[in-house]
Amino acid sequence: MSEHRQGRRVAIQGRLGKSPTRSGPRGRSPRLRRAAQRDLPALVALEQAVFSGDRLTPRQFRHHLDAPSTDLIVAASAAGLDGYALLFRRNGSLVGRIYSIAVAPSARGQGLGDRLLQRLEAIARARGLTEMRLEVRQDNAAAIALYERRGYQRFGERLAYYEDGGDAGRMRKSLLPRRRRRDRHTR
Ligand SMILES: CC(C)(COP(=O)(O)OP(=O)(O)OC[C@H]1O[C@@H](n2cnc3c(N)ncnc32)[C@H](O)[C@@H]1OP(=O)(O)O)[C@@H](O)C(=O)NCCC(=O)NCCS
Repeated sequence: MSEHRQGRRVAIQGRLGKSPTRSGPRGRSPRLRRAAQRDLPALVALEQAVFSGDRLTPRQFRHHLDAPSTDLIVAASAAGLDGYALLFRRNGSLVGRIYSIAVAPSARGQGLGDRLLQRLEAIARARGLTEMRLEVRQDNAAAIALYERRGYQRFGERLAYYEDGGDAGRMRKSLLPRRRRRDRHTR
């Protein structure tokens, strides 16, 4: 199934400028919670609004909502869903793979992408994972800045990774506390 191929997605560019304030124009900040089957129509609509290619299908979303190896988080506000984030795990691996973080164009620049990313990391830590990895389009400046800001570092690339020939950068972040990381290297 194609859903475990990472980052093969073309984002529709939303507003590039960032909101002047963190509170944003939409009032109360959305609540992050685990996605439920009732979120399916809104998830599909969000996917449509955010990505122009390689969209997750309703069937794939339905699968991820129940799959034991995925964590699907939504940001719910009075207006509906403002964003979602999707994490994959593999049996026997301590590496979590971020497949997608998506924020509705109207909700960007208010810290929601960052909140979703931090929530995925908290879930990964709680599950005992020690590293996060992802692929991101080399020209997706907003996403790269989001990840770098949280300590993700580039460790490689996948040339012509995308259907349109675009390259992907590979990024990763250790989830281990700094001291344990040092111990590991000096052992
Ligand atoms: C990438 C994305 C998730 C960011 O969501 P967001 O809610 O707007 O991001 P935040 O407001 O939390 O910003 C957090 C950090 O990300 C970076 N960032 C976000 N938008 C940015 C932009 N337009 N330009 C540059 N940096 C940006 C900044 O470092 C920012 O921190 P700062 O505001 O302190 O400078 C959103 O733009 C999106 O959904 N894009 C389309 C889908 C996508 O590309 N997903 C990622 C790959 S699957």
